[in-house]
Amino acid sequence: MELQFLVLLVFFLGWPTVRPQPLSDLIPKSANDLNVMLQDYAYRAFTFERTGIPFDGIVPSYLTGINISALRLRSGSLYSRGFDSYKEFVIPPGVMDGPRHVERLVFVYHNLGNWSSHYYPLTGDHMYLAPIFGLLAYNGSDLSATNLPVLEFNATEKPITFKFGPIKPVSSGRVMKCVWFDVIGSKPVYYEMAPDNTCLLSTPGHCSIVDAPFVHHRHTSHVGKTIAQVFLGALVLGYIMGLLIFHIRGRRNRTMENRETMTRAGTHYEEIQLATTECPKKASWTGCL
Ligand SMILES: *[C@@H]1O[C@H](CO)[C@@H](O)[C@H](O)[C@H]1NC(C)=O
Ligand SMILES: *[C@@H]1O[C@H](CO)[C@@H](O)[C@H](O)[C@H]1NC(C)=O
Ligand SMILES: *[C@@H]1O[C@H](CO)[C@@H](O)[C@H](O)[C@H]1NC(C)=O
Ligand SMILES: *[C@@H]1O[C@H](CO)[C@@H](O)[C@H](O)[C@H]1NC(C)=O
Repeated sequence: MELQFLVLLVFFLGWPTVRPQPLSDLIPKSANDLNVMLQDYAYRAFTFERTGIPFDGIVPSYLTGINISALRLRSGSLYSRGFDSYKEFVIPPGVMDGPRHVERLVFVYHNLGNWSSHYYPLTGDHMYLAPIFGLLAYNGSDLSATNLPVLEFNATEKPITFKFGPIKPVSSGRVMKCVWFDVIGSKPVYYEMAPDNTCLLSTPGHCSIVDAPFVHHRHTSHVGKTIAQVFLGALVLGYIMGLLIFHIRGRRNRTMENRETMTRAGTHYEEIQLATTECPKKASWTGCL
């Protein structure tokens, strides 16, 4: 009886099948979703609750190519001593968490490898010369926490330094620049590199080195601008002088003719006289426009 029922059920519903979830559904959609997922996987790397030791994490296989690590610190020790070298980052003393203050924090490090431009696309004529690296911080009180909000921090004394390894030189007409994305992963910010292939940063985010177009000398354009300003200034000055001369001459002519025609009673005289004023022979171009 029961068996018959089961056979019927199978007949109508078909064999139960386990359909694997497609990889494209598991891969985080946005840079922010990726941050949330990597925080979870980085926290799993802590084999014991110690501060001051970096632990490398393992990402799910569908994110192969991304490396992560987690480092737990007391925020007091972070502020007074910094952390000399956490992967490529040198964290100087003076780094403050806040405005929400925590007792312990965890730095989560990202190396996005071949996923860099997937999550952090560059704009314009720029190309990555290195993978993109992230340095984010989270509340480090509970190491089993997930979905933690990103913790703000600020290097208040010296900037955090990011040291890239050797990078092949760019071709002529191109320059190396740093690129930085804030935590929301909004628009890239391109800025000058510091010496020795380093980039400086002071707040959480992601950074890398890019091959950027060489923008024409700022010095030349500055000189050009000055010349244009001087020329414009001279032109305006000339115009004002011209108006002044015209005005003075006009007034002098009028008073002289007024004296001559005092006795004449012409109501529209002045208007007619003004309209027909001829250019005196010696007048400069500015005097009689
Ligand atoms: C990630 O780490 C592994 C093992 O340490 C290393 O072989 C690999 O080069 C790293 N990936 C990147 C993109 O640096
Ligand atoms: C990165 O490389 C891995 C293999 O190492 C590959 O599975 C993955 O699809 C690549 N990611 C992208 C965005 O191309
Ligand atoms: C940090 O996490 C602990 C434990 O979950 C919590 O008690 C504390 O309020 C959190 N601190 C902040 C600033 O969110
Ligand atoms: C970081 O600290 C510096 C120096 O104290 C301050 O000028 C700056 O506004 C701070 N930035 C942020 C985002 O809090």
